[in-house]
Amino acid sequence: MNTDRIVSTFTDYFREHGHELVTGGTLLPPPSDPVLFTTSGMHPLTPHLEGRPHPQGRRLTSVQRCLRTTDLDEVGDRTHLTVFEMLGSWSLGDYGHSQSLRWGHELLRDGFGIPPERMHVTVFGGDDEVGPDDESLGTWRELGLPVELTSDENWWSHGPVGLCGPDSEIFVWTGDPGTPPQGSPTTDPRWVEVWNHVSMRYRRLEDGGLQLLQQPNVDTGMGLERLATVLQGHDSVYDSDLFEPWTRLLPPLWDLDEPSTRLVCDHLRSGIAVIGDGVRPSNTGRGYVLRRLTRRVLTTLWRDDPSRTLSDLPTELLGHTLDHFRQPGDTGRVRGVLVDEERRFGRLLERGRRVLGRPRFEGPLSDEDYRYLHDTHGLPRDLVTTLRTP
Ligand code: SER
Repeated sequence: MNTDRIVSTFTDYFREHGHELVTGGTLLPPPSDPVLFTTSGMHPLTPHLEGRPHPQGRRLTSVQRCLRTTDLDEVGDRTHLTVFEMLGSWSLGDYGHSQSLRWGHELLRDGFGIPPERMHVTVFGGDDEVGPDDESLGTWRELGLPVELTSDENWWSHGPVGLCGPDSEIFVWTGDPGTPPQGSPTTDPRWVEVWNHVSMRYRRLEDGGLQLLQQPNVDTGMGLERLATVLQGHDSVYDSDLFEPWTRLLPPLWDLDEPSTRLVCDHLRSGIAVIGDGVRPSNTGRGYVLRRLTRRVLTTLWRDDPSRTLSDLPTELLGHTLDHFRQPGDTGRVRGVLVDEERRFGRLLERGRRVLGRPRFEGPLSDEDYRYLHDTHGLPRDLVTTLRTP
């Protein structure tokens, strides 16, 4: 099943069950939100989970693009991405958690064809504040799925204060299909979490207390790229259809090792999506995130060959990314932003070479030197190292 089919299977299912599709999906939260980028599917719905009526009703579904830069150094491995999409469903004080779990089970089994023998779930087993989630436990037992109880791992919160509640996570077995699944989600990493159903019925207060929300909500989120990777039987998200044009077109253009190819694919794809949502490189805020992503790409490309240029980026990749994120942008304009940033960075490096030619930087560099070069001249540490390598 390709990614487009996965998305339509998900949203069609929830629409058939009375949910309205929330469109938009931009990476940019509204101006009143202090966070730079949308970080999860439920993020734009926070005021409505807090109780403000939503104009589209009490049952919602969405496909939300998200950006997280907290794991930047992990990018290049098999799974981490800076921009990803979340499939989500919500009950804003409408149906209960048990209904959500039943629909989740049915959609994974009948819609996505995952045999129930390859599913395992986890449920909140209670702690000293809140009792065990017996409702979910009962529902899963009725549906015949193996359940593991945990406490910390099944309590969802976004931060020290605000919305929170017990959750139930659905895992899929990714081990050899010929042998029966082993262990449980906390004991065997071949169980991969695909879908989180949160019973969002509490608010954590500043003083640490827990308050019941006026309306008990259900908030679910499933990472699209991870689901596609699991359904398509791959180990790495880069082997899924989502990256097909990238993994076909980039290696012949730029001969890099595998982690570097992945980093370049991820960051360029994210850069295109961020530009597609209207951001331009700058030294602050969102523009700085875009600048960092682009410069990390260029640093990687230029490490072996400074003649590489984003002018060579195939138009198909720009078009594929904008289409995938349902962005109307024009490929020429997006490329213009990237190439402009490349020129700017190229000039910065020239200046860097001149600065590094000063006698002060002849010997080994201290942390303070690196800090000075970064803070005063905008030269990242790994680039300085490269510039100094004979
Ligand atoms: N709030 C849950 C998550 O972020 C489900 O949307 O995973």
